[in-house]
Amino acid sequence: MQSTEQNILNIKRLKAEKNAIILAHYYQTGDIQDIADFVGDSLALSQKAASNSAAIIILAGVKFMAETAKILAPEKKVLLPDLNAGCSLANSCKAEDFEKFLKENPGRTVISYVNTTAEIKALSDIICTSSNAVQIIESLPTEEKIIFAPDRNLGNYILNKTGRDIVIWNGSCHVHEEFSLEAILRLKKENPDAKIIVHPECKLPVRMVADFIGSTSSLLQFTKKDKGNCYIVATEVGIIHQMKRENPGKTYIPAPPIDSSCGCSECSFMKLITIEKILNCLKNEEPEIIIDNKTLIRAQKPIHRMMEISEKLGL
Ligand code: 13P
Ligand code: SF4
Repeated sequence: MQSTEQNILNIKRLKAEKNAIILAHYYQTGDIQDIADFVGDSLALSQKAASNSAAIIILAGVKFMAETAKILAPEKKVLLPDLNAGCSLANSCKAEDFEKFLKENPGRTVISYVNTTAEIKALSDIICTSSNAVQIIESLPTEEKIIFAPDRNLGNYILNKTGRDIVIWNGSCHVHEEFSLEAILRLKKENPDAKIIVHPECKLPVRMVADFIGSTSSLLQFTKKDKGNCYIVATEVGIIHQMKRENPGKTYIPAPPIDSSCGCSECSFMKLITIEKILNCLKNEEPEIIIDNKTLIRAQKPIHRMMEISEKLGL
């Protein structure tokens, strides 16, 4: 077996030879974030997938992110280093159940979170991410009735923020649902100057004690601009690598889940991606993301609508 250093050198060589780029999400391990050509949240990854000159995209993240990249750049080869890198939130919304839900709630604009399968996207009117969900809903006429899927916590957050008529699908993310309010409050007691920063996929009691709520990139921006020095971070622990990189002088305390052996919250799907799997994927040009043409074409429209609204609003 080769050393990690050797694997990284081989990745760099193959990337140049094959005109490939690595797009990584903030929940990837630090070593992967460090070798990536681009690191971002779901919105930024989509924007980057749609505008780059590479022939091959390696998505160091989970399947819905790789599918979104493929939908936005169908002419490119999109590779996911481990096809088992799914998402509990995307899994909580199956196409046949969602179709039934849409029939039961007719006449509503269907806004789906990017954490969905290509099939759910194909059934939607507009896609959103946690970076633009509130603004996308606010860009619609006030009388417009909405369906939001699949995250009940993000849906509830948007509903409270916008006061719109929204019917919400009952899905959730196993990582963000599991943060322990008691442990967060204990950490706050031990670190009274710390600010509690929270991803909107967290449950209401955790959101209620937050000093700031936002997508991974908004949380990162907040820690950069804020005058404080210490943060209790209620999202997947991988983001702390980037926070430390951009602001090494500050302290970041991972919020623990209810059942915790490591004292922090990890997304087991995100953590399936490794440097070794990225190298193999570059060498063999597989596993490749394949989406049937009909679904791909239908899924393009709602993602393009999101990109157009985001661009118009400068997001
Ligand atoms: P962001 O878009 O905020 O990066 O969130 C992605 C995600 O999967 C959160 O669990
Ligand atoms: Fe999906 Fe949750 Fe993992 Fe994000 S953290 S990719 S929502 S399972």
